[in-house]
Amino acid sequence: MSEKRSSFTGKLGFVLAAAGSAVGLGNIWRFPYLAAQYGGGIFLLVYIILTLTFGFSLMAAEIAIGRKTGQSPIGAFTALGKKYAIVGYIGAAIPALILPYYSVIGGWVLKYMVGFVTGEGKAMATDGYFGAYISGPSEPVAWFIVFITITAFIVILGVNKGIEKVSKVMMPVLIALTIFIAVYTICTMDGAIEGVKYYILPDFKKFSFKTVVAAMGQLFYSLSIAMGIMITFGSYMKKDISIEKSIHQIEIFDTGVAFLAGLMIIPAVYAFSGLDGMNSGPGLMFITLPKIFETMPGGNIIGVVFFVMVFFAALTSSISLMETVVAVFQDRFKMDRIKATLLVLVISVSLGLISVFGYSIWSDFTLFKMQMLDFFDFLTNSLMMPICALLTCIVVGYCIKPKALIEELEIGGRFRSKLLFKVMICGIAPVCILLILLSSFGVIKI
Ligand code: TRP
Repeated sequence: MSEKRSSFTGKLGFVLAAAGSAVGLGNIWRFPYLAAQYGGGIFLLVYIILTLTFGFSLMAAEIAIGRKTGQSPIGAFTALGKKYAIVGYIGAAIPALILPYYSVIGGWVLKYMVGFVTGEGKAMATDGYFGAYISGPSEPVAWFIVFITITAFIVILGVNKGIEKVSKVMMPVLIALTIFIAVYTICTMDGAIEGVKYYILPDFKKFSFKTVVAAMGQLFYSLSIAMGIMITFGSYMKKDISIEKSIHQIEIFDTGVAFLAGLMIIPAVYAFSGLDGMNSGPGLMFITLPKIFETMPGGNIIGVVFFVMVFFAALTSSISLMETVVAVFQDRFKMDRIKATLLVLVISVSLGLISVFGYSIWSDFTLFKMQMLDFFDFLTNSLMMPICALLTCIVVGYCIKPKALIEELEIGGRFRSKLLFKVMICGIAPVCILLILLSSFGVIKI
């Protein structure tokens, strides 16, 4: 391929594009329920430490690989050495597995958005509504298919730039609304302050290895790392931009949104149902928020606005996930864009239906004691991403050597975290990930 790659314009272009792909359901839906489940403050602390060390180093490695080779993951790893191509393939498979179940949750968001528009807010705030909804035989299927078809349409039409622009305007509104809801809840609900304490103050007794596993999976997911996405982004990045500074901005933004989403949801859960409520898992956002809106004056409208924002945040991420998968199909099988997108759509609908039915007609069927959606989430976040991250560390740390990337990292400005980068990539990160994987597979008990 000799044609010149297009590149992001200006400094902010890269950060905004990367942040747009990073901020999504991971921040607003996944982070709060994990934080609630894994001990609140201690999860938050572990998460932040991991972001600044682990997340930083891995993201730096991926962006540098992308900018150095100027290619997307499979091509980039092949360019570093033919035998490393496998890392690119594993990375490329991850978005393909995330997209289907991501769209299932996108469908839940659509359902709630429309529910608030049609004045069903009160009903949605009742206990058991969410559970009854997802175990219904047909409605969740319909909303899931609507969500993923919208995504595919946008990918085919190539109008995602427009969507991105809309969501860039909406993102500040989403953040402002999240802060407003958090403040409202904390000020008006009895017991919410206790919830804030649970969320912010770490209780070291609650620390377990599982906290680290969950925090690391979430970190990869939320920052969209350990799946080759940042390699593609890096390949579009201009040489005169500092990778280090850009990463800091992305991390602050992404973690900030996740933190605020937690602050909006966790104190409210605490106020409504105490510690017992913390284990509600994936449904948390859909169970708690309607209840908060119900207590607010004008709650129905706030509900509409809120779910519209979340819908856009989810849509930009699902477009970016689908684009990645389509690009791989196009490159590997020499397909045209429309055919590739339709094929990805059919495959994703089939895989997504497994997750949808896992809550309804196939609810008796579990894999490793998990519902199907949880299983796909576990497969990608707790197994494949750590494997991809581990292999990336090994390739960078011991095959091509960190020096090769540090040169790239220094091009757009000083790279201050050289030591951290080397120590993480060559030592701490791979050892920790290996321990985590062994414990996930049950080989060792920690
Ligand atoms: N980071 C996204 C979120 O927080 C989800 C995601 C994971 C993603 N992998 C991705 C988005 C790849 C775009 C591309 O919701």
